[in-house]
Amino acid sequence: MNYADEKNIVIFDHPLIQHKISLLRDKNTGTNEFRKLVGEIAMLQGFEALSDLPLEDVEVETPIEKCMTPMIAGRKLAIVPILRAGLGMVDGILSLVPTAKVGHIGLYRDEKTHEPVEYYCKLPHTIEERTIVVTDPMLATGGSAADAITLIKQHGGRNIKFMCIIASPEGLERLHKEHPDVQIYVGHLDRELNDDAYICPGLGDAGDRIFGTK
Ligand code: PRP
Ligand code: URA
Repeated sequence: MNYADEKNIVIFDHPLIQHKISLLRDKNTGTNEFRKLVGEIAMLQGFEALSDLPLEDVEVETPIEKCMTPMIAGRKLAIVPILRAGLGMVDGILSLVPTAKVGHIGLYRDEKTHEPVEYYCKLPHTIEERTIVVTDPMLATGGSAADAITLIKQHGGRNIKFMCIIASPEGLERLHKEHPDVQIYVGHLDRELNDDAYICPGLGDAGDRIFGTK
């Protein structure tokens, strides 16, 4: 798959994002720093991913005169993290658009089959009118992201973006194939999945490293 030709796939090459991902990969990076880095990367990615957010003109009075000036229509944005690890990316995006609504989708990967199992779904009202940013640091087999997006579509969501920090080629291909309409943002495309469906070289288990479990 030649990703450069896919208009709905963005693979970041910004040096700040690459640098922070290298720090994330380091097994000696502790929970506190790991969490901070995930938030910073999400903010940097969000800056680009939200470049088409709708604006509305509002009246503002400057010290000189009144004028109509564009502002983000913030209530039109929904951030939907895939629990747990996706939560780590929410604050970074909220720092850009504090008025965004936040939904949650709970999925975990079965350890043997690697298939996602759904346990929670709560989405903001009028989801069909919103730009939706689904967050999850890891796109491995692609099963969790693909199922979360199917669920959002079943609730009426249409304008969907998916943001991850590390993707495998297998996961990226699967997600793009199942949801070609979804704009996918990837911090770094890694080499492959191993037999346990972990991304190589990856960063290990993102949820455990964000929350300090295990
Ligand atoms: C991880 C990760 C993704 C999923 C990716 O979550 O955060 O949600 O695995 O794998 P996939 O692309 O093969 O579906 P996990 O199931 O470990 O749950 P957690 O975030 O609660 O730890
Ligand atoms: N989930 C993770 O957290 N890391 C991987 O490498 C694969 C799935």
